[in-house]
Amino acid sequence: MDFIEVNNRKFTPYILHDDIQKEVSRIAAEIDRDYKGKRPLFISILNGSFMFASDLFKHLTIEAEISFIKLASYKGTRSTGQVITSIGLDESLKGRHIVILEDIVDTGKTLHSFLPSLSDQNPASLRVASLLHKPEALEHKITIDYLGFSVPNKFLLGYGLDFDGLARNLKDIYQLVDEGK
Ligand code: IMP
Ligand code: MG
Repeated sequence: MDFIEVNNRKFTPYILHDDIQKEVSRIAAEIDRDYKGKRPLFISILNGSFMFASDLFKHLTIEAEISFIKLASYKGTRSTGQVITSIGLDESLKGRHIVILEDIVDTGKTLHSFLPSLSDQNPASLRVASLLHKPEALEHKITIDYLGFSVPNKFLLGYGLDFDGLARNLKDIYQLVDEGK
């Protein structure tokens, strides 16, 4: 097995680049079909979702816009439970079809605290697309309308996901190896 080490922790390959790309293009095809003629506005939640957002956006063929917001709740390998906004949105959402792009829905705190502020602006519709989801970690009910992979409750990195800022550049997604096993 090709283990890698990041910040002195061991990770093993978990979802390979080709499999990620297949799911991303499947999701893009669904969105193409569902949003034709609606000119959706995608909101990518930085930092983690930049790679998913970029690949997904390249696969789309319909008219669409994209914007970015910066929210964070993670430090190291754990959720802090607090969501901080450090870059807001410029666009008006009133009457727009909005699709949120997330790398992963884990506890659901990020979206739970962010979605109501979007609904308040009366968008025509509001949906969530997430590459990954950890159902066992979920603490708030979040509907994911477009999902790539459901994964166990273990820390992941690569393809935009980081460990204290590192390893976002990896093409594949890696899983933390439990020490002592
Ligand atoms: P939530 O608020 O707990 O749902 O967490 C959402 C955010 O935490 C995601 O957008 C990621 O940026 C980060 N996150 C959650 N799980 C992981 C992980 O396994 N690796 C890296 N980042 C993660
Ligand atoms: Mg994120």
